[in-house]
Amino acid sequence: MKLLVTGGAGFIGSNFIRYMIREHPDYQIINLDKLTYAGNPDNLRDIESHPNYRFVQGDICDPAAVEPLAKAADLILNFAAETHVDRSILEPGGFIQTDVFGTYVLLEAAKRNNHERYIQISTDEVYGSIDRGAFTEASPLHPNSPYAASKAAGDLLVQSYVRTYGFPAIITRSSNNFGPYQYPEKVIPLFITNALEDKPLPLYGDGQNIRDWIYVIDNCAAIDLVLHRGRPGEVYNIGGGSERTNIGLTRFILNELGKPVGLIQYVKDRSGHDRRYALDCGKVAALGFKARHVFEDDLLETIRWYQEHAPWWQKIKSGEFQKYYDRMYAKRENG
Ligand code: NAD
Ligand code: TYD
Repeated sequence: MKLLVTGGAGFIGSNFIRYMIREHPDYQIINLDKLTYAGNPDNLRDIESHPNYRFVQGDICDPAAVEPLAKAADLILNFAAETHVDRSILEPGGFIQTDVFGTYVLLEAAKRNNHERYIQISTDEVYGSIDRGAFTEASPLHPNSPYAASKAAGDLLVQSYVRTYGFPAIITRSSNNFGPYQYPEKVIPLFITNALEDKPLPLYGDGQNIRDWIYVIDNCAAIDLVLHRGRPGEVYNIGGGSERTNIGLTRFILNELGKPVGLIQYVKDRSGHDRRYALDCGKVAALGFKARHVFEDDLLETIRWYQEHAPWWQKIKSGEFQKYYDRMYAKRENG
């Protein structure tokens, strides 16, 4: 099988490509990635010369870049997106372009080339926040950030192709991923690396927001399962079943690193901050999926990974990252 993976130089995409090369040694994988600030060739250094892998730098919004690759592939898995909520609050334009228009370009290419599957990597954030219970795939979409709204728009566009053209797409909506190679603007790698540097950990609001965490490899396994056993036209929630408050998560990280809780710095809350995410994952469980990993074990392993790969994140944090961070905080403080 020939897979066109978009956004494969990012966090989940790079873990997915590595996972697929290991699990399916006969598959060919093309990785189309624009290499935005979040795309990092270092994430796939170990497999860059693997005979079944090819990297192409390009934009999913560019039909001329997409078309020949779609022609050469059996199907597309679309991971490419602008993904950080705080950046979407600062500058939403790029999110609309990539997460909506880019999805449209890929759908058209897949349709034109008669692909028999298309996998859209969506997110639980399209549902918005839920105080009690859990969202099912039939729950209404109620996105609250420009990021979540752009992902919801992409998700709905995919659904429109299913209904209008009988297009054989499948959508996955996963909860918050964590693990190796996650860009250190997201809370877990940010807090681990700040703690390692003895810098403050900026906890938003009262720290009581809840996220359901899934280890990235579990999500990769679920996507692989959905690709092979999922029903075309369906949506699948993929959760880790590990709901944790942000303050609980933060204390765990500090404790494991032997750092003082005094590093926690409560800062002004994120605008439109979703309180809690929770997913009902009965549908993907019925396909045979069960998150294999235990959250605290994997968080420990993840902490070790960032400890052992300091050059990987130090390179990022000494580059574009700091400029973004300063801009984000300047804007927040000034409303
Ligand atoms: P990431 O930000 O780490 O990586 C995104 C990748 O997409 C980067 O390599 C970037 O260069 C590439 N990209 C961005 N715009 C592009 C464009 N126009 N053309 C080609 N490539 C482009 O993101 P991630 O955390 O790995 O997320 C991957 C996917 O999973 C996204 O669609 C995201 O919405 C979804 N998702 C993420 C999470 C999470 O917790 N990280 C949870 C649920 C869903
Ligand atoms: P994040 O990793 O940005 O993922 P998402 O917003 O997509 O869920 O944030 C996870 C949680 O951590 C969220 O409730 C916001 C919070 N958070 C902080 O408290 N401080 C931070 O510096 C960041 C980046 C996030």
